[in-house]
Amino acid sequence: MNINSNGKSRMKPSIHVLAWLLSLLTCMAGPTKSDSILTPAPEVVPRIHGANVFGVRPGHPFFYKIAATGTPPLRYQVLNLPDGLQLDRKTGIITGILPRPGNYVMHVQVSNTIGKHECNLTIKVGNSICLTPPMGWNSWNAFGLSVTQDKVKAVAQVMIDRGLVEHGWTYVNIDDGWEAGQRTAQGILLGNENFPDIKGLADWLHARGIKLGVYSSPGPTTCGGHLGSYQHEAQDAETFATWGVDFLKYDLCSYKWDIFDKAGDNSEAAWMKPFLTMRREMDKQSRDIVYSICSYNTIPWAGKVGANLTRITGDIRDEWPAIVNNGFGVIDQYWYNNRPGLWNDADMLVVGNTSGGWENNVRTNKLTRDEQYSHFSLWCLLSAPLIIGCDLTMADDFTIALLSNDDVIEINQDALGKPARRVLKTDSYQVWVKSLEDGTRAVGIFNMQSEPQAITVKWSDLNIRGGIVRDLWRQKDLGRYESEFTTQVGPHCVTLVRIKPTEALRALGNDTQTR
Ligand code: GAL
Repeated sequence: MNINSNGKSRMKPSIHVLAWLLSLLTCMAGPTKSDSILTPAPEVVPRIHGANVFGVRPGHPFFYKIAATGTPPLRYQVLNLPDGLQLDRKTGIITGILPRPGNYVMHVQVSNTIGKHECNLTIKVGNSICLTPPMGWNSWNAFGLSVTQDKVKAVAQVMIDRGLVEHGWTYVNIDDGWEAGQRTAQGILLGNENFPDIKGLADWLHARGIKLGVYSSPGPTTCGGHLGSYQHEAQDAETFATWGVDFLKYDLCSYKWDIFDKAGDNSEAAWMKPFLTMRREMDKQSRDIVYSICSYNTIPWAGKVGANLTRITGDIRDEWPAIVNNGFGVIDQYWYNNRPGLWNDADMLVVGNTSGGWENNVRTNKLTRDEQYSHFSLWCLLSAPLIIGCDLTMADDFTIALLSNDDVIEINQDALGKPARRVLKTDSYQVWVKSLEDGTRAVGIFNMQSEPQAITVKWSDLNIRGGIVRDLWRQKDLGRYESEFTTQVGPHCVTLVRIKPTEALRALGNDTQTR
Protein backbone atom coordinates (compact mmCIF):
# COMPACT_ATOMS: atom_id res chain seq x y z
CA MET A 1 0.00 0.00 0.00
CA ASN A 2 1.15 3.55 -0.69
CA ILE A 3 0.34 6.73 1.14
CA ASN A 4 -0.53 9.93 -0.73
CA SER A 5 0.75 13.36 0.21
CA ASN A 6 -2.29 14.02 2.41
CA GLY A 7 -1.42 10.97 4.45
CA LYS A 8 -4.41 9.01 3.14
CA SER A 9 -3.86 5.41 2.15
CA ARG A 10 -4.49 4.27 -1.41
CA MET A 11 -4.59 0.84 -2.94
CA LYS A 12 -1.86 0.03 -5.44
CA PRO A 13 -4.21 -0.59 -8.39
CA SER A 14 -5.55 2.95 -8.28
CA ILE A 15 -2.00 4.29 -8.33
CA HIS A 16 -1.22 2.19 -11.31
CA VAL A 17 -4.27 3.45 -13.14
CA LEU A 18 -3.41 7.07 -12.30
CA ALA A 19 0.20 6.68 -13.36
CA TRP A 20 -0.92 5.00 -16.55
CA LEU A 21 -3.36 7.77 -17.40
CA LEU A 22 -0.75 10.43 -16.69
CA SER A 23 1.83 8.80 -18.85
CA LEU A 24 -0.62 8.28 -21.65
CA LEU A 25 -0.76 12.06 -21.79
CA THR A 26 3.04 12.31 -21.73
CA CYS A 27 4.71 9.79 -23.80
CA MET A 28 2.10 8.42 -26.10
CA ALA A 29 1.45 11.84 -27.53
CA GLY A 30 3.93 11.13 -30.31
CA PRO A 31 5.90 13.53 -32.38
CA THR A 32 3.09 15.34 -34.11
CA LYS A 33 0.55 16.18 -31.41
CA SER A 34 0.65 19.57 -29.73
CA ASP A 35 -0.29 18.05 -26.36
CA SER A 36 3.20 16.60 -26.16
CA ILE A 37 4.32 19.91 -24.64
CA LEU A 38 4.69 19.08 -20.96
CA THR A 39 6.53 22.07 -19.51
CA PRO A 40 4.01 24.34 -17.77
CA ALA A 41 4.06 28.02 -18.71
CA PRO A 42 6.34 30.03 -16.40
CA GLU A 43 4.63 31.45 -13.34
CA VAL A 44 3.82 35.16 -13.22
CA VAL A 45 5.50 35.52 -9.82
CA PRO A 46 9.29 35.83 -9.97
CA ARG A 47 11.29 32.63 -9.85
CA ILE A 48 15.10 32.54 -9.82
CA HIS A 49 16.77 29.80 -11.86
CA GLY A 50 20.25 28.52 -12.46
CA ALA A 51 22.84 26.91 -10.22
CA ASN A 52 23.35 28.04 -6.64
CA VAL A 53 27.13 28.12 -7.07
CA PHE A 54 29.45 29.94 -9.48
CA GLY A 55 33.25 29.79 -9.78
CA VAL A 56 35.62 32.58 -10.81
CA ARG A 57 39.39 32.99 -10.59
CA PRO A 58 40.76 35.72 -8.30
CA GLY A 59 41.33 39.00 -10.09
CA HIS A 60 39.53 37.91 -13.26
CA PRO A 61 36.40 39.67 -14.51
CA PHE A 62 33.29 38.34 -12.82
CA PHE A 63 30.27 38.20 -15.11
CA TYR A 64 26.97 36.66 -14.08
CA LYS A 65 23.40 37.23 -15.18
CA ILE A 66 20.72 36.33 -12.65
CA ALA A 67 18.31 34.08 -14.55
CA ALA A 68 14.73 34.64 -13.48
CA THR A 69 11.23 34.29 -14.86
CA GLY A 70 8.09 36.21 -13.91
CA THR A 71 5.99 38.95 -15.38
CA PRO A 72 8.24 41.87 -16.37
CA PRO A 73 9.51 44.26 -15.31
CA LEU A 74 11.65 42.34 -12.83
CA ARG A 75 13.74 44.14 -10.24
CA TYR A 76 16.95 42.57 -9.01
CA GLN A 77 18.60 43.05 -5.65
CA VAL A 78 21.57 41.35 -4.02
CA LEU A 79 22.27 41.42 -0.31
CA ASN A 80 25.86 40.76 0.80
CA LEU A 81 27.20 41.81 -2.58
CA PRO A 82 30.96 41.48 -2.02
CA ASP A 83 33.15 44.57 -2.42
CA GLY A 84 34.37 44.73 -6.00
CA LEU A 85 31.08 43.64 -7.60
CA GLN A 86 28.27 45.76 -9.02
CA LEU A 87 24.71 44.77 -9.81
CA ASP A 88 22.72 46.28 -12.66
CA ARG A 89 19.33 46.30 -10.96
CA LYS A 90 17.43 46.47 -14.25
CA THR A 91 19.14 43.59 -16.08
CA GLY A 92 20.29 41.41 -13.19
CA ILE A 93 23.85 41.37 -14.54
CA ILE A 94 26.58 41.33 -11.90
CA THR A 95 30.08 42.42 -12.94
CA GLY A 96 33.33 43.33 -11.24
CA ILE A 97 36.43 41.69 -9.83
CA LEU A 98 37.04 39.72 -6.65
CA PRO A 99 40.75 39.77 -5.91
CA ARG A 100 40.82 37.38 -2.95
CA PRO A 101 40.08 33.64 -2.93
CA GLY A 102 37.24 32.43 -0.73
CA ASN A 103 33.55 31.64 -0.71
CA TYR A 104 31.14 34.56 -0.86
CA VAL A 105 27.48 33.89 -0.14
CA MET A 106 25.18 36.44 -1.74
CA HIS A 107 21.45 36.66 -1.17
CA VAL A 108 19.66 37.27 -4.46
CA GLN A 109 16.17 38.77 -4.62
CA VAL A 110 14.00 39.19 -7.70
CA SER A 111 10.67 40.98 -7.47
CA ASN A 112 7.84 42.31 -9.60
CA THR A 113 4.47 43.83 -8.79
CA ILE A 114 3.09 40.39 -7.94
CA GLY A 115 5.73 38.96 -5.64
CA LYS A 116 9.32 38.17 -4.81
CA HIS A 117 11.65 35.18 -4.87
CA GLU A 118 14.95 34.97 -3.07
CA CYS A 119 17.77 32.50 -2.64
CA ASN A 120 21.48 32.25 -1.93
CA LEU A 121 24.19 32.16 -4.57
CA THR A 122 27.70 31.16 -3.49
CA ILE A 123 30.60 32.60 -5.46
CA LYS A 124 33.67 30.42 -5.14
CA VAL A 125 36.74 32.49 -5.91
CA GLY A 126 39.58 30.07 -6.55
CA ASN A 127 41.17 28.01 -9.26
CA SER A 128 38.03 26.13 -10.32
CA ILE A 129 35.52 27.51 -12.76
CA CYS A 130 32.58 25.97 -14.59
CA LEU A 131 31.28 24.40 -11.38
CA THR A 132 28.05 23.24 -13.02
CA PRO A 133 27.65 21.98 -16.60
CA PRO A 134 27.69 24.87 -19.08
CA MET A 135 24.37 25.65 -20.76
CA GLY A 136 24.33 27.30 -24.15
CA TRP A 137 24.13 27.00 -27.90
CA ASN A 138 26.70 25.95 -30.54
CA SER A 139 26.53 26.81 -34.23
CA TRP A 140 27.81 23.50 -35.66
CA ASN A 141 24.67 21.40 -35.94
CA ALA A 142 22.68 24.37 -37.15
CA PHE A 143 24.93 26.10 -39.65
CA GLY A 144 28.06 23.97 -40.10
CA LEU A 145 30.78 25.86 -41.96
CA SER A 146 28.31 28.43 -43.30
CA VAL A 147 28.00 30.12 -39.91
CA THR A 148 27.98 33.94 -39.92
CA GLN A 149 28.03 36.65 -37.30
CA ASP A 150 24.50 37.67 -38.27
CA LYS A 151 23.18 34.13 -37.86
CA VAL A 152 24.83 33.86 -34.44
CA LYS A 153 23.35 37.18 -33.38
CA ALA A 154 19.91 36.14 -34.61
CA VAL A 155 20.09 32.98 -32.51
CA ALA A 156 21.16 34.97 -29.45
CA GLN A 157 18.21 37.31 -30.01
CA VAL A 158 15.87 34.31 -30.00
CA MET A 159 17.45 33.11 -26.76
CA ILE A 160 16.54 36.48 -25.29
CA ASP A 161 13.14 36.94 -26.91
CA ARG A 162 11.86 33.45 -26.14
CA GLY A 163 13.12 33.51 -22.58
CA LEU A 164 15.87 30.90 -22.74
CA VAL A 165 18.40 33.23 -21.11
CA GLU A 166 16.05 33.48 -18.13
CA HIS A 167 16.17 29.70 -17.69
CA GLY A 168 19.97 29.77 -17.44
CA TRP A 169 21.08 29.35 -21.08
CA THR A 170 24.27 31.41 -21.09
CA TYR A 171 26.77 30.59 -23.85
CA VAL A 172 26.60 31.32 -27.57
CA ASN A 173 29.44 29.37 -29.13
CA ILE A 174 30.73 29.82 -32.67
CA ASP A 175 32.03 26.47 -33.88
CA ASP A 176 34.29 25.93 -36.89
CA GLY A 177 34.03 28.25 -39.89
CA TRP A 178 34.67 31.72 -38.42
CA GLU A 179 38.41 31.91 -39.14
CA ALA A 180 40.00 34.03 -41.90
CA GLY A 181 41.98 32.26 -44.63
CA GLN A 182 45.27 33.86 -43.56
CA ARG A 183 46.83 35.34 -40.46
CA THR A 184 48.07 38.94 -40.54
CA ALA A 185 51.75 39.61 -41.22
CA GLN A 186 52.19 39.60 -37.42
CA GLY A 187 50.52 36.20 -37.18
CA ILE A 188 47.25 37.39 -35.68
CA LEU A 189 44.15 35.30 -36.39
CA LEU A 190 41.13 37.24 -37.62
CA GLY A 191 37.53 36.46 -38.35
CA ASN A 192 36.67 35.87 -42.03
CA GLU A 193 34.29 37.98 -44.11
CA ASN A 194 31.33 36.41 -42.30
CA PHE A 195 32.73 37.58 -38.96
CA PRO A 196 33.74 41.20 -39.45
CA ASP A 197 33.71 42.13 -35.75
CA ILE A 198 34.00 39.36 -33.18
CA LYS A 199 34.87 41.78 -30.37
CA GLY A 200 31.76 43.77 -31.24
CA LEU A 201 29.73 40.57 -31.13
CA ALA A 202 31.15 39.72 -27.69
CA ASP A 203 30.28 43.18 -26.39
CA TRP A 204 26.76 42.93 -27.81
CA LEU A 205 26.25 39.54 -26.14
CA HIS A 206 27.75 40.62 -22.82
CA ALA A 207 25.43 43.62 -22.66
CA ARG A 208 22.59 41.10 -22.77
CA GLY A 209 24.00 38.72 -20.15
CA ILE A 210 25.25 36.16 -22.70
CA LYS A 211 28.77 34.75 -23.03
CA LEU A 212 30.71 34.08 -26.23
CA GLY A 213 32.50 30.91 -27.26
CA VAL A 214 34.85 30.26 -30.19
CA TYR A 215 36.43 27.18 -31.72
CA SER A 216 39.98 26.28 -32.73
CA SER A 217 42.33 23.34 -33.09
CA PRO A 218 45.85 22.63 -31.81
CA GLY A 219 46.64 21.51 -35.36
CA PRO A 220 47.59 23.70 -38.34
CA THR A 221 43.99 23.38 -39.56
CA THR A 222 40.62 22.64 -38.01
CA CYS A 223 38.44 19.68 -38.94
CA GLY A 224 36.66 21.95 -41.42
CA GLY A 225 39.94 22.98 -43.05
CA HIS A 226 40.22 26.44 -41.48
CA LEU A 227 43.28 27.84 -39.73
CA GLY A 228 44.11 26.22 -36.39
CA SER A 229 46.26 27.51 -33.54
CA TYR A 230 49.36 25.34 -34.12
CA GLN A 231 52.48 27.33 -33.17
CA HIS A 232 50.30 30.39 -32.63
CA GLU A 233 48.84 29.35 -29.28
CA ALA A 234 50.16 32.38 -27.37
CA GLN A 235 48.82 34.83 -29.95
CA ASP A 236 45.47 33.11 -30.22
CA ALA A 237 44.94 32.88 -26.47
CA GLU A 238 45.65 36.59 -26.26
CA THR A 239 43.37 37.36 -29.21
CA PHE A 240 40.51 35.38 -27.65
CA ALA A 241 40.97 37.12 -24.31
CA THR A 242 41.12 40.54 -25.97
CA TRP A 243 37.90 39.87 -27.82
CA GLY A 244 36.21 38.91 -24.53
CA VAL A 245 35.79 35.22 -25.34
CA ASP A 246 34.41 33.13 -22.46
CA PHE A 247 34.58 29.59 -23.88
CA LEU A 248 37.03 27.80 -26.18
CA LYS A 249 36.26 24.50 -27.91
CA TYR A 250 39.65 23.09 -28.84
CA ASP A 251 39.37 20.21 -31.29
CA LEU A 252 42.31 17.90 -32.06
CA CYS A 253 41.64 17.59 -35.84
CA SER A 254 44.78 18.02 -37.95
CA TYR A 255 47.08 17.84 -34.94
CA LYS A 256 46.32 14.11 -34.99
CA TRP A 257 47.22 13.40 -38.60
CA ASP A 258 49.78 16.17 -39.24
CA ILE A 259 51.73 16.06 -35.97
CA PHE A 260 50.80 13.27 -33.60
CA ASP A 261 50.66 10.35 -36.02
CA LYS A 262 53.87 11.42 -37.74
CA ALA A 263 55.73 11.59 -34.39
CA GLY A 264 54.63 8.02 -33.64
CA ASP A 265 54.53 8.58 -29.87
CA ASN A 266 51.32 7.23 -28.37
CA SER A 267 52.14 8.09 -24.76
CA GLU A 268 49.77 9.99 -22.51
CA ALA A 269 52.24 12.88 -22.45
CA ALA A 270 52.12 13.09 -26.24
CA TRP A 271 48.31 13.16 -26.22
CA MET A 272 48.26 15.81 -23.52
CA LYS A 273 50.90 18.05 -25.05
CA PRO A 274 48.84 20.16 -27.49
CA PHE A 275 46.10 20.72 -24.94
CA LEU A 276 48.59 21.64 -22.22
CA THR A 277 50.25 24.13 -24.55
CA MET A 278 47.02 26.05 -25.01
CA ARG A 279 46.15 25.69 -21.32
CA ARG A 280 49.43 27.38 -20.35
CA GLU A 281 48.77 30.23 -22.76
CA MET A 282 45.24 30.71 -21.50
CA ASP A 283 46.56 30.77 -17.95
CA LYS A 284 48.57 33.85 -18.88
CA GLN A 285 45.37 35.75 -19.75
CA SER A 286 43.54 37.69 -17.07
CA ARG A 287 40.22 36.21 -18.10
CA ASP A 288 38.30 33.02 -17.32
CA ILE A 289 37.79 30.99 -20.49
CA VAL A 290 35.98 27.68 -20.16
CA TYR A 291 38.20 25.07 -21.83
CA SER A 292 36.33 22.46 -23.82
CA ILE A 293 38.65 19.85 -25.30
CA CYS A 294 37.75 17.48 -28.03
CA SER A 295 39.84 14.48 -29.02
CA TYR A 296 37.70 11.46 -28.16
CA ASN A 297 40.60 10.04 -26.15
CA THR A 298 40.91 12.57 -23.39
CA ILE A 299 39.23 10.98 -20.41
CA PRO A 300 42.14 9.78 -18.29
CA TRP A 301 44.04 13.03 -18.48
CA ALA A 302 41.47 15.75 -19.17
CA GLY A 303 41.83 17.03 -15.59
CA LYS A 304 45.61 17.23 -15.93
CA VAL A 305 45.38 19.68 -18.84
CA GLY A 306 42.91 21.87 -16.98
CA ALA A 307 39.94 21.02 -19.20
CA ASN A 308 36.44 21.94 -18.10
CA LEU A 309 34.73 19.79 -20.71
CA THR A 310 36.02 16.71 -22.43
CA ARG A 311 34.35 15.11 -25.42
CA ILE A 312 33.91 11.40 -24.89
CA THR A 313 32.08 10.49 -28.08
CA GLY A 314 32.09 10.98 -31.81
CA ASP A 315 29.72 13.44 -33.44
CA ILE A 316 26.10 13.02 -32.42
CA ARG A 317 23.28 12.63 -34.94
CA ASP A 318 19.54 13.10 -34.55
CA GLU A 319 18.86 9.37 -34.62
CA TRP A 320 17.92 7.12 -31.72
CA PRO A 321 20.98 4.84 -32.12
CA ALA A 322 23.22 7.91 -31.70
CA ILE A 323 21.43 8.82 -28.46
CA VAL A 324 21.87 5.24 -27.29
CA ASN A 325 25.56 5.33 -28.19
CA ASN A 326 26.50 8.80 -26.92
CA GLY A 327 24.25 8.81 -23.87
CA PHE A 328 23.33 5.35 -22.67
CA GLY A 329 26.46 3.74 -24.06
CA VAL A 330 29.39 5.36 -22.34
CA ILE A 331 28.61 5.44 -18.66
CA ASP A 332 30.49 2.44 -17.44
CA GLN A 333 33.70 3.45 -19.13
CA TYR A 334 33.83 7.13 -18.48
CA TRP A 335 31.46 8.78 -16.09
CA TYR A 336 33.62 8.19 -13.00
CA ASN A 337 35.64 11.19 -14.15
CA ASN A 338 32.83 13.76 -13.99
CA ARG A 339 33.02 16.38 -11.26
CA PRO A 340 32.38 20.10 -10.74
CA GLY A 341 34.77 21.89 -13.08
CA LEU A 342 35.26 18.90 -15.40
CA TRP A 343 32.30 17.60 -17.36
CA ASN A 344 32.13 14.69 -19.75
CA ASP A 345 30.74 15.99 -23.01
CA ALA A 346 28.41 13.62 -24.81
CA ASP A 347 28.11 16.21 -27.64
CA MET A 348 25.43 18.69 -28.48
CA LEU A 349 21.69 18.43 -27.90
CA VAL A 350 20.10 17.32 -31.15
CA VAL A 351 16.75 18.96 -30.48
CA GLY A 352 14.66 21.13 -32.79
CA ASN A 353 15.58 21.81 -36.40
CA THR A 354 19.10 20.60 -36.93
CA SER A 355 21.45 19.83 -39.78
CA GLY A 356 24.06 17.48 -38.37
CA GLY A 357 26.99 19.86 -39.02
CA TRP A 358 28.50 18.62 -42.23
CA GLU A 359 25.10 18.36 -43.96
CA ASN A 360 24.52 22.11 -43.70
CA ASN A 361 20.85 21.69 -44.44
CA VAL A 362 18.60 22.53 -41.52
CA ARG A 363 15.59 20.23 -41.45
CA THR A 364 13.06 18.73 -39.07
CA ASN A 365 14.60 16.59 -36.36
CA LYS A 366 14.56 12.87 -37.07
CA LEU A 367 14.12 12.11 -33.36
CA THR A 368 10.52 11.83 -32.24
CA ARG A 369 9.38 14.13 -29.49
CA ASP A 370 9.43 11.17 -27.12
CA GLU A 371 13.06 10.55 -28.05
CA GLN A 372 13.91 14.21 -27.49
CA TYR A 373 12.42 13.96 -23.99
CA SER A 374 14.69 10.98 -23.35
CA HIS A 375 17.71 12.73 -24.85
CA PHE A 376 17.31 15.90 -22.80
CA SER A 377 16.44 13.99 -19.61
CA LEU A 378 19.47 11.74 -19.96
CA TRP A 379 21.89 14.61 -20.57
CA CYS A 380 20.49 16.33 -17.45
CA LEU A 381 20.84 13.15 -15.41
CA LEU A 382 24.41 12.62 -16.61
CA SER A 383 25.47 16.15 -15.60
CA ALA A 384 26.48 16.56 -19.21
CA PRO A 385 27.04 20.00 -20.77
CA LEU A 386 23.78 21.25 -22.26
CA ILE A 387 24.74 22.80 -25.58
CA ILE A 388 21.84 23.28 -27.97
CA GLY A 389 22.60 22.19 -31.53
CA CYS A 390 19.78 23.54 -33.66
CA ASP A 391 18.73 26.64 -35.55
CA LEU A 392 16.85 28.38 -32.76
CA THR A 393 15.45 30.97 -35.17
CA MET A 394 13.24 28.16 -36.47
CA ALA A 395 12.38 26.72 -33.04
CA ASP A 396 8.76 25.71 -32.53
CA ASP A 397 6.91 25.88 -29.22
CA PHE A 398 7.77 22.26 -28.46
CA THR A 399 11.51 22.92 -28.69
CA ILE A 400 11.36 26.06 -26.57
CA ALA A 401 9.26 24.26 -23.95
CA LEU A 402 11.68 21.32 -23.96
CA LEU A 403 14.53 23.73 -23.18
CA SER A 404 12.62 25.77 -20.59
CA ASN A 405 11.72 23.24 -17.93
CA ASP A 406 13.32 24.50 -14.74
CA ASP A 407 12.64 21.35 -12.72
CA VAL A 408 14.47 19.27 -15.31
CA ILE A 409 17.34 21.75 -15.82
CA GLU A 410 17.75 21.98 -12.04
CA ILE A 411 18.91 18.36 -11.80
CA ASN A 412 21.60 19.09 -14.42
CA GLN A 413 22.72 22.23 -12.60
CA ASP A 414 22.80 20.58 -9.19
CA ALA A 415 25.90 21.74 -7.31
CA LEU A 416 26.90 18.22 -6.23
CA GLY A 417 27.76 17.56 -9.87
CA LYS A 418 27.24 13.80 -9.66
CA PRO A 419 26.38 12.02 -12.88
CA ALA A 420 23.54 9.52 -12.76
CA ARG A 421 24.41 5.85 -12.64
CA ARG A 422 22.55 3.16 -14.49
CA VAL A 423 20.95 1.07 -11.77
CA LEU A 424 18.68 -1.22 -13.78
CA LYS A 425 19.08 -2.47 -17.33
CA THR A 426 16.91 -5.00 -19.09
CA ASP A 427 16.44 -5.59 -22.79
CA SER A 428 13.46 -3.28 -22.77
CA TYR A 429 14.12 -0.55 -20.19
CA GLN A 430 16.78 1.22 -18.18
CA VAL A 431 16.64 3.14 -14.91
CA TRP A 432 19.18 5.84 -14.06
CA VAL A 433 19.55 7.49 -10.66
CA LYS A 434 21.27 10.80 -9.89
CA SER A 435 22.04 11.92 -6.33
CA LEU A 436 21.31 15.58 -5.67
CA GLU A 437 22.74 18.05 -3.19
CA ASP A 438 19.63 18.21 -0.99
CA GLY A 439 19.51 14.46 -0.44
CA THR A 440 16.80 13.85 -3.04
CA ARG A 441 17.26 11.60 -6.07
CA ALA A 442 16.38 12.11 -9.72
CA VAL A 443 15.27 8.91 -11.43
CA GLY A 444 14.93 8.43 -15.18
CA ILE A 445 12.87 5.43 -16.28
CA PHE A 446 13.62 4.93 -19.98
CA ASN A 447 11.66 2.73 -22.35
CA MET A 448 14.24 1.36 -24.80
CA GLN A 449 11.55 -0.37 -26.87
CA SER A 450 9.73 1.03 -29.85
CA GLU A 451 6.42 0.03 -28.26
CA PRO A 452 4.85 1.68 -25.20
CA GLN A 453 5.08 -0.30 -21.98
CA ALA A 454 4.25 -0.13 -18.27
CA ILE A 455 7.38 -0.18 -16.13
CA THR A 456 7.31 -0.90 -12.42
CA VAL A 457 10.31 0.13 -10.38
CA LYS A 458 10.84 -1.16 -6.86
CA TRP A 459 12.76 1.40 -4.85
CA SER A 460 14.67 -1.42 -3.14
CA ASP A 461 16.07 -2.41 -6.55
CA LEU A 462 17.44 1.12 -6.88
CA ASN A 463 18.78 1.05 -3.33
CA ILE A 464 16.75 4.13 -2.49
CA ARG A 465 13.94 4.85 -0.05
CA GLY A 466 10.53 5.92 -1.26
CA GLY A 467 8.92 9.26 -0.57
CA ILE A 468 7.14 12.03 -2.42
CA VAL A 469 7.46 11.51 -6.16
CA ARG A 470 7.52 14.58 -8.39
CA ASP A 471 7.01 14.37 -12.13
CA LEU A 472 9.69 16.79 -13.34
CA TRP A 473 8.45 17.39 -16.87
CA ARG A 474 4.99 18.28 -15.57
CA GLN A 475 6.39 19.94 -12.43
CA LYS A 476 3.80 18.16 -10.40
CA ASP A 477 3.91 16.08 -7.20
CA LEU A 478 2.31 12.71 -7.81
CA GLY A 479 2.02 11.64 -4.16
CA ARG A 480 3.94 9.38 -1.86
CA TYR A 481 5.22 6.05 -3.13
CA GLU A 482 6.90 4.10 -0.37
CA SER A 483 7.91 0.88 -2.07
CA GLU A 484 7.40 0.96 -5.83
CA PHE A 485 6.29 3.13 -8.72
CA THR A 486 4.62 2.15 -11.97
CA THR A 487 4.58 4.30 -15.05
CA GLN A 488 3.42 3.84 -18.61
CA VAL A 489 6.23 5.00 -20.89
CA GLY A 490 5.91 5.64 -24.61
CA PRO A 491 8.30 4.33 -27.28
CA HIS A 492 11.89 5.46 -26.55
CA CYS A 493 10.42 7.87 -24.00
CA VAL A 494 11.14 8.54 -20.35
CA THR A 495 9.39 9.18 -17.09
CA LEU A 496 11.62 11.53 -15.13
CA VAL A 497 10.89 11.92 -11.43
CA ARG A 498 12.51 13.29 -8.31
CA ILE A 499 12.06 11.43 -5.06
CA LYS A 500 12.18 13.24 -1.78
CA PRO A 501 12.73 10.65 0.91
CA THR A 502 11.10 11.17 4.28
CA GLU A 503 14.43 12.04 5.93
CA ALA A 504 15.19 14.68 3.31
CA LEU A 505 11.72 16.16 3.76
CA ARG A 506 12.28 16.47 7.49
CA ALA A 507 15.64 18.10 6.95
CA LEU A 508 14.11 20.53 4.48
CA GLY A 509 11.25 21.63 6.75
CA ASN A 510 8.35 22.60 4.51
CA ASP A 511 10.49 22.13 1.41
CA THR A 512 10.23 25.49 -0.24
CA GLN A 513 13.93 26.02 -0.95
CA THR A 514 15.11 23.09 -3.01
CA ARG A 515 16.64 25.18 -5.79
C1 GAL B 1 34.35 17.87 -35.32
C2 GAL B 1 33.62 18.09 -34.01
C3 GAL B 1 32.33 18.80 -34.31
C4 GAL B 1 32.62 20.10 -34.99
C5 GAL B 1 33.50 19.88 -36.23
C6 GAL B 1 33.94 21.19 -36.84
O1 GAL B 1 35.55 17.22 -35.03
O2 GAL B 1 33.37 16.85 -33.42
O3 GAL B 1 31.60 18.99 -33.12
O4 GAL B 1 33.26 20.95 -34.08
O5 GAL B 1 34.65 19.14 -35.89
O6 GAL B 1 34.82 21.02 -37.90
